[in-house]
Amino acid sequence: MSVTIDGYESIPVIGVFDSGVGGLTVVKELKRAIPTVPLIYFGDTARTPYGTKSQETIKRFALEDTKFLLSKGANIIVIACHSAASVATSMLNERFDCPIFEVITPSVSQLLRLSRRGRIGVIGTRATIESGVYEREIKKRADYVVIGVPCPLLVPLVEEGWLKRRETKMIVKKYIHPLKLKNIDTLILGCTHYPMLKDVIARKAGKRIKIIDPSKEVAITVRDFIFNKIGVEDYSIGDYMDDMDRDKFYFSDLGSVTKEVIRRFIDRPIDPKKVVLRYN
Ligand code: DGL
Repeated sequence: MSVTIDGYESIPVIGVFDSGVGGLTVVKELKRAIPTVPLIYFGDTARTPYGTKSQETIKRFALEDTKFLLSKGANIIVIACHSAASVATSMLNERFDCPIFEVITPSVSQLLRLSRRGRIGVIGTRATIESGVYEREIKKRADYVVIGVPCPLLVPLVEEGWLKRRETKMIVKKYIHPLKLKNIDTLILGCTHYPMLKDVIARKAGKRIKIIDPSKEVAITVRDFIFNKIGVEDYSIGDYMDDMDRDKFYFSDLGSVTKEVIRRFIDRPIDPKKVVLRYN
């Protein structure tokens, strides 16, 4: 099946990049929404985490990650990493003609639909929260109160598989507490890793706070784009397992720890490949 993207005939191939393994939460949602669209994943495990790095460095990494995916045949890019999406989206849009999706804008659209009182909490890495991107994007569209809280301890806890530990619950509670005091009504999970802690976060937030999972929102947005704009009629038919076999997963480092963390993030067997980026 061929389609026209930016004037050329091609089959849609989604390239997803992340600072490491966390973007596999976005892959899961993309496979649920559009299982038969081929996907190429790049996780920059050699240079992870991005969330503690400067904007300049994250932009450089994001540029190299995107070039790699395009060189492998991707023609639609999804920035799964919130830290990269926060600081590098406009630069990538200026550099490349292909459609580029990120995890922030779809979540903002969803919160405008969900929030009743316009009091929004955002949790994410330091890079994402310090960028102020959510506040900027929300304020463009509504006069809401936006409160961001960096949660740097959650990424290592998730990667260690401490999803249900007492210590993790205590730390989540500590991070959510100031947001509850500010009476938020909607909370954005502004990091690739946080969907893995969704139940714990939802329990600590309480029933009155609605949770937005950007991995789901971006998957729906990409699906709608492929269905509507590109004009593909039905990309949802197909066998999930077969398609996961066809998809490609690249990582810039692939030691035993990374392989173990990959297993925690994705519930299907994948065949990860190590690759050294040469786009400096
Ligand atoms: N993928 C990153 C994000 O969503 C989290 C891990 C990191 O700091 O690199 O911000």
